Amino acid sequence: MAFSMVLFVALAVSSLMVVSGAGNFYQDFDLTWGDHRAKIFNGGQLLSLSLDQTSGSGFKSKREYLFGRIDMQLKLVAGNSAGTVTAYYLSSQGPTHDEIDFEFLGNLSGDPYILHTNVFTQGKGGREQQFYLWFDPTRNFHTYSVIWKPQHIIFLVDNTPIRLFKNAESIGVPFPKNQPMRIYSSLWNADDWATRGGLVKTDWSKAPFTAYYRNFNAQTCAGSCTHGTSSSSALSNGGWQTQELDDYGRRRLRWVQKNFMIYNYCSDLKRFPQGVPPECKRPRFL
Ligand SMILES: *[C@@H]1O[C@H](CO)[C@@H](O)[C@H](O)[C@H]1NC(C)=O
Repeated sequence: MAFSMVLFVALAVSSLMVVSGAGNFYQDFDLTWGDHRAKIFNGGQLLSLSLDQTSGSGFKSKREYLFGRIDMQLKLVAGNSAGTVTAYYLSSQGPTHDEIDFEFLGNLSGDPYILHTNVFTQGKGGREQQFYLWFDPTRNFHTYSVIWKPQHIIFLVDNTPIRLFKNAESIGVPFPKNQPMRIYSSLWNADDWATRGGLVKTDWSKAPFTAYYRNFNAQTCAGSCTHGTSSSSALSNGGWQTQELDDYGRRRLRWVQKNFMIYNYCSDLKRFPQGVPPECKRPRFL
């Protein structure tokens, strides 16, 4: 009896700690530009962005987040998407803003998208890692997630970690931890650089180009976020505050980095003749 009472109280308290929202796009997002090109439909369950020769389009979250796990399912522009970029990112504002980026660079039909990632801290980015995906991101919805904690940022694709950015403040690298961020997405034309470095241009006869979004979910801290560092296996389960990379997660991360990573700023010695940034010298894996 006493025990079940304690358990009940513990559950009640822990449910207050996590604010979990299974999304409705009307409630959670504002369409910010592109007029009719950005649309919410199916009663708030589905959102689409499109791009034509006149304009792209975009949306942003109504609320700001400071740490949390953010999941979104995207289905990218199908067919010939060369020249188009679908950006999906978290960002604060101002000259010293922080940012956590996914950008999907389109391609000719049948040629692979590039998933471009970056982390900005205190207004400074330049931390690009790029990946091919192990599936066609235009056929179905796939889940793209960020786990943002004071200790690290993990980028995930269908719950597979693809990138880990550790807090390296102890060696002087700023980490995003004071500025709340909104979620943004936009679809625009970037054919001056996106596809094969700008060689392949957007084919406007294929416009409009459309990307779809569904199943937004955000788990955030109502209270303190700094505790809870025990390890937990399933990155797919709730309780994001305790989500660390366990052995399986690390193996998956290595698998992605070995087989699908096509660019890593940390290995770009030509770009950093004076030496790579300090966070690159830390062991890459936990
Ligand atoms: C597009 O396809 C080409 C040829 O396979 C490839 O080199 C390139 O990395 C792909 N992605 C982008 C965004 O250019």
